[in-house]
Amino acid sequence: MDIETKVWETLCSEEDIVRRTAELGKQISEDYKDKKLFVISLLKGSFIFTADLVRKIDIPVKLGFMTTSSYGHSEESSGKINVLADINDDVEGYDILVVDDITDSALTMSFVMNHLKSKNPASIKCCVLLDKPVRRKVDLVPDYVGFEIDDKFVVGYGLNYGDYYRNVPYVFNVTNQDR
Ligand code: IMP
Ligand code: MG
Repeated sequence: MDIETKVWETLCSEEDIVRRTAELGKQISEDYKDKKLFVISLLKGSFIFTADLVRKIDIPVKLGFMTTSSYGHSEESSGKINVLADINDDVEGYDILVVDDITDSALTMSFVMNHLKSKNPASIKCCVLLDKPVRRKVDLVPDYVGFEIDDKFVVGYGLNYGDYYRNVPYVFNVTNQDR
């Protein structure tokens, strides 16, 4: 399907994202004010959200990046997660906040949180821009959620379609309707 020929439906506009990201940043700053916040961003999908979110956090924050295997060009998770690039930092005693673009089956987030727990952080929570709770395959409720969405494949603001469109500044869904 060539998505250029289809109608794009905006689910989260730039304004929605700016407003919600500021709210999340404020909440996280309050919740972690007496802690040692260490944000771990999952690449590639969360690079834009993380960049915007950490600039709305006004307490000291360390940053790390991890890459896990993703869907590739398919819209379905294979269910098998691999760590392609791990963090190099010592996180012992830090309060980790894992940031991702979206929880769908939540297999990725659940795997990553278990992986990081083995590195002995003081605590570990997660924050996602988007949550698709109806798609859940493991019992995980993200601690911070930007927007809860229906079961739709979404693109933009870091989320890819065939490894493109991550740079679109809003989140959209491709409809079946021709332009
Ligand atoms: P999960 O393991 O099924 O929760 O999927 C998590 C990963 O799949 C996310 O980090 C995204 O990279 C990708 N993903 C899940 N749903 C979508 C979507 O609707 N659009 C684009 N990528 C998605
Ligand atoms: Mg991802």
